Amino acid sequence: MIETAQAFGVDIGGSGIKAAPVNLEQGGFAEPRLKIATPAESTPRAVADIVRQQLDHFQVPSEAPVGIAFPAPIRPGRALTFMANLDKSWIGVDVTAVFSEACGRPVTVVNDADAAGVAEQQFGAAKGQDGLVIATTLGTGIGTALIYDGVLIPNTELGHIELPDGKGDAEKYAASSIRDRESMSYKKWARRLTKYYGLMEKYFNPDLFVVGGGVSRVSEKFLPYVDIVTPIVPATLHNDAGIIGAAYYAATKAGR
Ligand code: BGC
Repeated sequence: MIETAQAFGVDIGGSGIKAAPVNLEQGGFAEPRLKIATPAESTPRAVADIVRQQLDHFQVPSEAPVGIAFPAPIRPGRALTFMANLDKSWIGVDVTAVFSEACGRPVTVVNDADAAGVAEQQFGAAKGQDGLVIATTLGTGIGTALIYDGVLIPNTELGHIELPDGKGDAEKYAASSIRDRESMSYKKWARRLTKYYGLMEKYFNPDLFVVGGGVSRVSEKFLPYVDIVTPIVPATLHNDAGIIGAAYYAATKAGR
């Protein structure tokens, strides 16, 4: 691994598994990331094999902190109880133990949206923001991170709040993947996002919403049409936030 990196981050998503050595002084990649497609059968073994390949590719030394952002609520030492977008065989598995074994070293696993939120709070759009920040990721699903005065309240699953009027699970209505699947215009999607963020605003009264995920790169196409009172800004680290946040989390919370 290149000397300018102090930690290694991996982000496991519904479509790709991305990894890069991270420069924690600058809050960016120390080398270009490597993306490998998520296997169609995204079982623990198949996914862990890819993470192992990523470590081998970058020749990550055994003492380097390794952080893995994972799309489900993570409590180290406890079995996973909920999985929305990867193979259901993850349920009942201690995710941290599976990756540590596959990688031949202890690794830190953190919810992907929490990782992204922490990265935005340390290095990005929420830097220096007091009070309650709700960082969201819009991708295959909707992920959320609650950060109060710089402290993360982990494992919130507010992408699954039930929308009124029979609209059901929020991520099945308003995730970026739904916009793609239904070939929805950005303006139409923004109306759906208004319903989602409007409800979040009503229940949580945050000081700031940060909108992340790959689609945050084209935020000018939809964010101006999200009609809520709370300030809402695009993530500045976009899709890199999961990798950077996971690496930061591993380096700062290691051994916890
Ligand atoms: C999962 C969350 C995850 C989010 C983004 C949701 O379906 O339940 O844990 O953070 O997707 O990947």
